Amino acid sequence: VVIRPCDMLVFGGTGDLALHKLLPALYHLHRDRRLPADMRILALARKPLGADAYRTLAERHCRANVPRANFDATTWQAFAERIDYFAMDASQSADYGRLARHLGNACQRGRVYYLATAPGLFEDIAAHLANAGLAGSDTRIVLEKPIGHSLESALAINQAIGRVFQESQVFRIDHYLGKETVQNLMALRFANALFEPVWRSGHIDHVQISVCETLGVENRGGYYDKAGAMRDMLQNHLLQLLCLVAMEAPVRFDAEAVRNEKVKILEALKPIAGFDVKDRTVRGQYAAGKIGGQEVPAYYFEKNVDSDSDTETFVAVHAEIDNWRWAGVPFYLRTGKRMARKSSEIVIQFKPVPHRLFQDGQANRLLIRLQPEESISLQLMAKSPGKGMYLAPVELDLNLAHAFRQKRRWDAYERLLLDVIEGDSTLFMRRDEVEAAWRWVDPIIGGWHAYYQRPRPYPAGSWGPEQAHSLLEQQGHAWHR
Ligand code: BG6
Repeated sequence: VVIRPCDMLVFGGTGDLALHKLLPALYHLHRDRRLPADMRILALARKPLGADAYRTLAERHCRANVPRANFDATTWQAFAERIDYFAMDASQSADYGRLARHLGNACQRGRVYYLATAPGLFEDIAAHLANAGLAGSDTRIVLEKPIGHSLESALAINQAIGRVFQESQVFRIDHYLGKETVQNLMALRFANALFEPVWRSGHIDHVQISVCETLGVENRGGYYDKAGAMRDMLQNHLLQLLCLVAMEAPVRFDAEAVRNEKVKILEALKPIAGFDVKDRTVRGQYAAGKIGGQEVPAYYFEKNVDSDSDTETFVAVHAEIDNWRWAGVPFYLRTGKRMARKSSEIVIQFKPVPHRLFQDGQANRLLIRLQPEESISLQLMAKSPGKGMYLAPVELDLNLAHAFRQKRRWDAYERLLLDVIEGDSTLFMRRDEVEAAWRWVDPIIGGWHAYYQRPRPYPAGSWGPEQAHSLLEQQGHAWHR
């Protein structure tokens, strides 16, 4: 249900997320006439800027982040009229009174609060909104991941938010769920009868979920050095992907049914704690190296990063799901910054045929690529032409960008922002999901500290530390390249 009339208030309005992702997404939605006609966007941050200065800043970032063909001055002008800026300190209760006065009559309108801030501010913001009478039933709140930095802090945030907002008003965003291929994973599994009978331990040898980036920490060193790859990526994005690969078919495609199934997977993750942490996880940190031929510095030389930092910029985990469908199937998760290539993919490696008739032959593999291009391909064995029965792997290729080339590809944030405005939380994390994910992640981080596992260095531009390869080799597997 669209809350109409509706405004969006973005806390952290001058931050990277707002400028690089949210405003370009809102611009596209405006351009496609998807936003409620009178919806206004109010950016909130501490910088003492006027509305015009903010619009200039926003324009610069939108120009840089929106494909050139989609950006034109007339559309921008109309979009910019929606944008306003209000300077305030989100941690100061007095500023919410000023905010309410600034909103004036607009206080009566529906409102979406987007908290594009550090999670440390979430509790204060919710409480101050409530005290200023700004948290009525016609409001929604969007929380960016990571929700806290541990189970304890996530519980505290969820409780504080829960005191002010009903769960149906809370949208915990994980932008991976807004990616087309991620949603296609559900279409692939639950709209095609072909895969279901083989989607289980009897036929699947192992699963790899890999999100590799070439970027370093850019200008987010202050945040990242406290978070690390486990909290920044694995606790949320990778575990969400794992849920979608592993979950049972929901009874309906709606928020509660889908999220019920995801929680069951998170709760079935085999705990990794104590000594297991050493055997089943690898953490790494990038050293100096080359990305695209350019020298890049080591992580600990990055801006706002402690020069003695032991934060991991790479993590690999051998996870297992203790349930009927997946018992004994390794789920290898890997994510890292400053790696050899940007590539996000899910590999479903099937078992070999039970009886080999031909000399050469490889087991089937389903490859779901999220980035850089979106595609799904199934590797099959075929006879290579000519005399003799020589086999070669061939790809049955579904290039989604090509198959739907007449349609513009939406950015993940566009889809998710529209879902918030329309009140559909199917692609957002429910409170118990976030908590279950931390419940599994906390003992791993605890183990790293207890058995002091310093991150292994890996050269920027490589595929991570050597130990990440041994993690799979010892099970007779290898990372897909
Ligand atoms: C964010 C992380 O959630 O996801 C970043 O905080 C990371 O560190 C980004 O770079 C990756 O997103 P994408 O969509 O580029 O894969």
